[in-house]
Amino acid sequence: MSKTEIKSTNIFSVEHRVAATERQETNGHRGGILWLTGLSGSGKTTLGLELERHLHLKGYQVYMLDGDNVRGGLNSDLGFAPDDRTENIRRIGEVAALFADAGLIVVTAFISPYQADRDLARAVKPDGFHEVFVKADLETCEERDPKGLYKRARLGEIPEFTGISAPYEQPAAAELVVDTGALSIGQSINRLLEYVDDQFGQPHTLSSVA
Ligand SMILES: Nc1ncnc2c1ncn2[C@@H]1O[C@H](COP(=O)(O)OP(=O)(O)OP(=O)(O)O)[C@@H](O)[C@H]1O
Ligand SMILES: [Mg+2]
Repeated sequence: MSKTEIKSTNIFSVEHRVAATERQETNGHRGGILWLTGLSGSGKTTLGLELERHLHLKGYQVYMLDGDNVRGGLNSDLGFAPDDRTENIRRIGEVAALFADAGLIVVTAFISPYQADRDLARAVKPDGFHEVFVKADLETCEERDPKGLYKRARLGEIPEFTGISAPYEQPAAAELVVDTGALSIGQSINRLLEYVDDQFGQPHTLSSVA
């Protein structure tokens, strides 16, 4: 899968007539990307789903993109070899940036093991990109093994499994680290909610919108 070859020529991009600031005025809060990265079983999906639910209840425009769902649709043509992982993340980065431009808070939950790929995703929307390291060591994740994947990877049934037979590069300078090896799910969510409040501002409440 080619990731750098540009085939789209004779393109004339259009300028939107709704400014980012106008979308922000409508929503009350900024749009942007919370890019959750971490080992399988570190808690990206668990936290992403709960964060999405909490933020929605608070009146935020929010949507979560999850690895397994996106791999079942948009990226169903991609496997887990390094080039495919890179293309997977490139597409997610582009989609997340579109959501953020639309004014939403996008929570992405992908292992995204390579720093270079995360940096490329950041480069699509540098002003609104927040790298969140969902941190738990391999031993903890392997013990949790919520999908039974580590067990199968150890048996050699899953090739190129992150942490076992494929690398995971820890974020060099994440905006936020959530240590799920030490914090409960509730504490982790509170940490994320504080961060959102601080970085994205407050939404108009649901009652004031209605
Ligand atoms: N503080 C915490 N935050 C999140 N999950 C936690 C925490 N403490 C324990 N867990 C448990 O860890 C597991 C995390 O699984 P989850 O599916 O969310 O991981 P993931 O990072 O999405 O993995 P994958 O990359 O395979 O999709 C769950 O069983 C969850 O209950
Ligand atoms: Mg997950």
